[in-house]
This record gives sequence, C-alpha cells and structure tokens, in this order.
Amino acid sequence: MTSSSPSSRFGRLLILPDPNAATAAAARLIAQTIRNDARAVLGLATGRTMEGVYARLAAMHRDEALSFSGVTTFNLDEYVGLSASDPNSYHHYMRTHLFDPVDADPARVHLPDGAAADPGAECAAYERAIRAAGGIALQLLGIGDTGHIGFNEPPSAFDTRTRVVELDEATRRQNAPMFGGDPEAVPREAITMGVGTILESKRLLLLATGPAKAAILAAALEGPVTPEVSASAIRLHPDVTVVLDTDAAAALSPAFTARATVAD
Ligand code: F6R
Repeated sequence: MTSSSPSSRFGRLLILPDPNAATAAAARLIAQTIRNDARAVLGLATGRTMEGVYARLAAMHRDEALSFSGVTTFNLDEYVGLSASDPNSYHHYMRTHLFDPVDADPARVHLPDGAAADPGAECAAYERAIRAAGGIALQLLGIGDTGHIGFNEPPSAFDTRTRVVELDEATRRQNAPMFGGDPEAVPREAITMGVGTILESKRLLLLATGPAKAAILAAALEGPVTPEVSASAIRLHPDVTVVLDTDAAAALSPAFTARATVAD
C-alpha cells in the first residue's frame, strides 16, 4: 500500500492492481473479522466475483487454521424454484465454494429456501433468524449489471426487507453463463435480503472486479443515491469498505479515487 486517505464518504476505498489482489484483500478482511470474533455473523454473497474470495478463505482454513466452526452465515439470496440440491442453486454454490472446503457448521449456515411452499413466510422467517443471531457483523456484497446488491433490482426502496423479487432481464442475461448460456433458463424470481436488511449490517464490504463493472460502479458511488441503483444505498451506511481492481475503478473520477488506498 503506498498511500491512504482515512476519511471519505466510505470507511475505506481500496483499489488493487488485479482481480486476484482484490479478492485476496476482501478475503483478508473477512478472515480478520473471524479472527476477532470466532462467533461472528457474516452476510455472504454468491456470483463469479466471490469465487476467488472463497478459494482464498478455503486456503486460509487449510494453511492457517482459520476456523469457521463457530461462524454463523446468512446469504443474500436464492433463486425461487431451485431446491438446495439443484446444481444451479446458491445453496449448491456455497457448499461447493466455501462450506464443504472449510469446517462450517451446517446448523449455522443460512440461505433463503427457494423451494419453500410459502415464500412469504420464508422471507419473514429469514428476517427473524438474522435478528435472533444478533444481526450481521460484516456483509459481503457484489454489484450486478443493474446496480443491484443482493437481487434488489431497480427500483428497490431503501427500506425493503427480505422478499420475493422478479429478476431484471439484464440480470438473467448476466447470470445466463451458469445456466448453459440461455437467459430463459435463469429463474424469473428470487428471494433476496432487502436493501433495508443489508443496511442494518454493522459493516459492509463491496467487492467488484473487471471492466464490465466500471460504469455501474461509478453510477453507484458517484451518481445520485437512488433506488434506481440499489448499490448507491451503501453510501448511507457509516461503515463501508469498497474493494476494487483497477479495471472496475476505471470510470471513477480522479477526485474520487484520490481518496483511495492504492496498492502497487
Ligand atoms: C449474489 C448477489 C449478486 C452478485 C452480483 C454480481 O448473491 O448478491 O448481487 O453479487 O450479481 O455477480 P457476479 O460476481 O457474478 O458478477
């Protein structure tokens, strides 16, 4: 790290040279949270960006005795209609990328049940479970092509709670590669934590990498704070860390990136 700026609208903005360095930085922040509190409550995200984060955490479990056994987790979202055993479900993603490779306690990991007979009741129960666990200490976030966090598609009011949402066509295109390349194969609905639910986390960690994220990220961080770009809501939170690679940061203004901690 060569320079730092302690205060900004965000707790911290880190800009790393490439996706590997950015995912490693995000993994280190998560590991630090667990090392500070072995019973931490983490909010987790899925998607391609996070695969590197979970690979790092799995390596830290293997090589550095980082234990997840006391950690409680709540994932942001799940597709409606996919059971936990469906290979395209986020349940399956999390088992593959994190829960199985580490010592996660199955009783402490939570994702919305996309196959619930009563999705409304499932959403209410998910909110209750987060509260019963004492709230989320650190919520990991990605950003989608629509500016969504979780699956909070535009417009998503900033006081929304866990609910069933209809996925934007752009999101179904974004996630089509995981469904054989066919956007029509991507489920039309998902259960997602709301923007209000996310904002109640004690700390937020947004990670974005790659040039495809540059424009929407600049809109979220420097454009209007608006339900039309749900990621812009993070600017209302008092403790946010944004971790980017240089490609994702490319559309930010020089004045904005001047406040960043930039690595060589
Ligand atoms: C997934 C989630 C989404 C993703 C976002 C970016 O649980 O909450 O908001 O973080 O769609 O996805 P990738 O990383 O695949 O570009």
